[in-house]
Amino acid sequence: MTIGNEAELAALQTIGRIVARCMQHMAKSMRPGMTTAELDEIGARFLAEQGATSAPRATYDFPGSTCISVNEEVAHGIPGARKLAAGDLVNIDVSAELDGFWADTGGSFPLGEVSPAIHHLCGTTKRALDQAMKGARAGKPLRGIGKAIEREAKGAGFKVVRNLCSHGVGRALHEEPAYIPGYDDPKERRLLKEGLVITIEPFLTTGSPWAETGHDGWTLTTGQGSRSAQYEHTMVITQGRPLIMTLP
Ligand code: CO
Ligand code: CO
Repeated sequence: MTIGNEAELAALQTIGRIVARCMQHMAKSMRPGMTTAELDEIGARFLAEQGATSAPRATYDFPGSTCISVNEEVAHGIPGARKLAAGDLVNIDVSAELDGFWADTGGSFPLGEVSPAIHHLCGTTKRALDQAMKGARAGKPLRGIGKAIEREAKGAGFKVVRNLCSHGVGRALHEEPAYIPGYDDPKERRLLKEGLVITIEPFLTTGSPWAETGHDGWTLTTGQGSRSAQYEHTMVITQGRPLIMTLP
């Protein structure tokens, strides 16, 4: 969507804050031994208390209220019987709707002590998001987003997951501009416009740059032993820095 007035901005900010707080609440609630279904239940309860509807459930009939992806899983992990353990890298992606406005956020959270390599992966992915946001201004090419992400990834020796993209959001979970690549794509010729609402969500991995769908038909993985990280904000494009909607 393109933001047309203050009321739309406020409504988007409201659902943005809800998904951001939900994700933080879930991340703080993680404990070794807890199943991902139990963690999802904490998120589901939070969204319900705020009157918000889980976006993946409403849009895709996803079998969970949030997506929880652990270690070799990169995205769209189905909450279930998998038990969290100390040393896991857990990605929590929360998207939801309130009063017809939709926001989407995500983040990767180490559970307890993790290796310096995982901290490096997470730090690099956060920096990729930051660098991509820095250049995302009205009038600039969308291509700049993937360029910035790829530059950070390559500089640190990680790969960008090529089949997971940023996207338009606001009046639906996924809308135009769809499939904003996380790598430099010369075929990407669209321009950013003032007021446009998009996510930026770099996915960096130590494994395969092509995530594969698992047997459950949802969970995407990047190969045995690999680790991936993702950080995602919903934002509004302006003449200056984007306005981040998904702040707690
Ligand atoms: Co998301
Ligand atoms: Co998204």
